[in-house]
Amino acid sequence: MEFSIKSGSPEKQRSACVVVGVFESRKLTLPAELLDKVSGGYIADIIRRGDMEGKPSSTLLLQNVPGTLCDRVLLVGLGKEKDFREKEYGAAIAATVKVLNETGAFDASIFLTELPVRKRSVAWRIRQATILVLDSCYKFEQFKSKKEEVRRPLRKLTFSVERRNELAPAEEALNQGIAIAEGMSMTKTLGNLPPNVCHPTYLAEQAQAMAKAFKLDCEILDRDAMEKLGMYSLLAVAQGSHQPPKLIVLSYKGSKTSEKPVVLVGKGVTFDTGGISLKPGADMDEMKYDMCGAASVLGTMQAVARMALPINLTIVIPATENMPGGKATRPGDIVTSMSGQTIEILNTDAEGRLILCDALTYAERFDPDTVIDVATLTGACVVALGNVATGLFANKDSLARELLDAGDEAHDRAWHLPLWDDYQELLKSPFADMGNIGGGRSAGAISAACFLSRFTKKFDWAHLDIAGTAWKSGAGKGATGRPVPLLTHYLLQRAGKLN
Ligand code: BES
Ligand code: MN
Ligand code: ZN
Repeated sequence: MEFSIKSGSPEKQRSACVVVGVFESRKLTLPAELLDKVSGGYIADIIRRGDMEGKPSSTLLLQNVPGTLCDRVLLVGLGKEKDFREKEYGAAIAATVKVLNETGAFDASIFLTELPVRKRSVAWRIRQATILVLDSCYKFEQFKSKKEEVRRPLRKLTFSVERRNELAPAEEALNQGIAIAEGMSMTKTLGNLPPNVCHPTYLAEQAQAMAKAFKLDCEILDRDAMEKLGMYSLLAVAQGSHQPPKLIVLSYKGSKTSEKPVVLVGKGVTFDTGGISLKPGADMDEMKYDMCGAASVLGTMQAVARMALPINLTIVIPATENMPGGKATRPGDIVTSMSGQTIEILNTDAEGRLILCDALTYAERFDPDTVIDVATLTGACVVALGNVATGLFANKDSLARELLDAGDEAHDRAWHLPLWDDYQELLKSPFADMGNIGGGRSAGAISAACFLSRFTKKFDWAHLDIAGTAWKSGAGKGATGRPVPLLTHYLLQRAGKLN
């Protein structure tokens, strides 16, 4: 899809379709009013007859509207003006894309981006619209012999802004939106790929390819290198698999070398069977998505590199399978993590924290300003927050606040859960420094976060549990690309590039 930004009046657009909004109670938006004027009340007439009531996401396609230079006019219902917020704006854009794809239009001029959305800037409106459009065009069908046939002549979209001085910020926001959507697309594809294709070595190759394309520093540690570092917790998870584990490190330098980097750590379990603590069979295929944390930090890195943000960013991905087998870790095994702390592995299915703890200790060597790990860590987080919010934990409240705000801005929301010391007791082990599970069914997402917190004493740290948000089950099954928007917005904010 090709995009551009323009400021001009709707009746003068020589495009295949001009898209304008209509509120409920017959109130035309400004561009709709302009079209109405040049057409001699044509649009107001239609509304009076009751063919377009302005209900949210309703649409009406008109041909050859008098007085205009475009082939079509698409009226999009916006609901009540006083209720028009972020969600309604998104719904209007989504409805637009859906109808445009059903028409023969090659291009369209969308005037919905001129609509005021409470508290949101023109940059926000353009960025969100771009992400929505591109996200809705995503498809994963590389393993289908017959690709779904879509008649999609639509190739070019123009977003309009009201004033000429909005053109520059809108252009920048458009580019940010494209970068974020491309990052999400990469994240989704890595997640959707089957686990026989997307194994640790594959993830490492993808990282190397990205390093080449964007001139990043890339380092891949294999089993021997990890042994030398004492990553016995990570290696315990990997030892049941025939796939060799990898620790993947990518660094982007957009700022002075002296500036401390943000480090993103992504859980990369390319398939989680549970190991000897085997999972039940139902829906186990979905455990191919257990590397979505890894995929999201890769997608975020790609977005940041594409935007050439003036920050330093490193991503660290512990990548492994979690398989049962003769060499696999047993419940009851005790291992020494890279930090020196010992762990009694009481449940081999609580493997995410076992690989993340060593990756978090490894992150110390980058002298990070902030470390954020992203992981499909606990089923308990899905029970708590469902598929709406990502679980957020932090050892610093201001960092939690910044991430919550980024999620809000990106409409990729998170919810702050507690990390109080009271919960640390859950991890007591009679034989080692800690167990790897909380025991019992209470506070599972929190006890997992508490476990990680024991490896993050040396830096500001946040943990995102994306178990409920990284992918969708059921009819529209597939990776969502979350939390790439949240993370990218956080980094854009840090870079001072969020308008
Ligand atoms: N990858 C899973 C978490 C998960 C489960 C994410 C279902 C999304 C859907 C993780 O490795 C895991 O198995 N966690 C266990 C921890 C338990 C053994 C303490 C869980 O949540 O059941
Ligand atoms: Mn597991
Ligand atoms: Zn897992």
